[in-house]
Amino acid sequence: MFRDRIFGAAVIAILAAVTPARAQDDIAAKAQACAACHGQNGVPIDPKTIPIIWGQQASYLYKQLHDFHSGDRPSPVMAPLVKEISLPQLRELANYFAAKTWPVATPPAPPPSAPEGIAMCKACHQQNFEGGQPAPRLAGLSSEYLAAAMRAFADDQRTNNGDMPKFMKALSESQRDAIARYLSAL
Ligand code: HEC
Ligand code: HEC
Repeated sequence: MFRDRIFGAAVIAILAAVTPARAQDDIAAKAQACAACHGQNGVPIDPKTIPIIWGQQASYLYKQLHDFHSGDRPSPVMAPLVKEISLPQLRELANYFAAKTWPVATPPAPPPSAPEGIAMCKACHQQNFEGGQPAPRLAGLSSEYLAAAMRAFADDQRTNNGDMPKFMKALSESQRDAIARYLSAL
């Protein structure tokens, strides 16, 4: 009897110790698959089309993974990849990548002055465009990715946010491109 109880307690203790470790391993293994495109060291294999996710805002990362999963943000690449991953695991993946350090690139020379229309973005994307709940970091993403994301909001291809399409429609294509170039150099 006594031995059984000791044994039972030991099993529970071992399970308690092992389960979280297994869950962590599982997330690390899943994250390996993401590295194929988003990069082993945080620099995407093609930054023009693939965004940096290392060090991005956790709440933003989770919302995007959620929206790819539900179809609210259509993406022929990301949607099939996250379809079979549960929402709690997507949250863990978001936290995993948010905890990494944003990769430091050698930035091109910053443009002399801030382009027209950019001041209002700081209300949500923060003073240095490093993001804050719930708005993502923009500083240091490629100008190509930023311009494409802004165009997708303006053209109603990306409709998973109520505010961004309005803001992007209010800017001309050339204003958006100037903003994208400026943000990528930060
Ligand atoms: C085959 C290449 C590929 C793989 C593998 C991949 N991604 Fe992506 N990811 C992309 C592309 C391309 C985009 C941009 C999608 C778009 O703009 O429609 C993207 C976008 C994202 C975004 C949105 C970021 C932002 O700034 O809006 C997140 C978050 C993300 N991926 C996380 C992941 C995670 C987590 C995994 C692993 C489970 C993963 N990705 C695997 C190519 C990939
Ligand atoms: C009211 C708050 C708010 C303001 C103001 C705002 N944004 Fe956003 N922006 C957001 C939020 C929230 C998201 C994330 C939307 C989502 O869930 O996909 C976002 C997403 C984006 C993205 C997509 C980033 C990515 O990784 O795909 C870009 C680019 C962007 N904003 C640029 C801008 C620019 C440029 C301005 C100013 C002209 C601006 N935003 C003004 C809140 C704001």
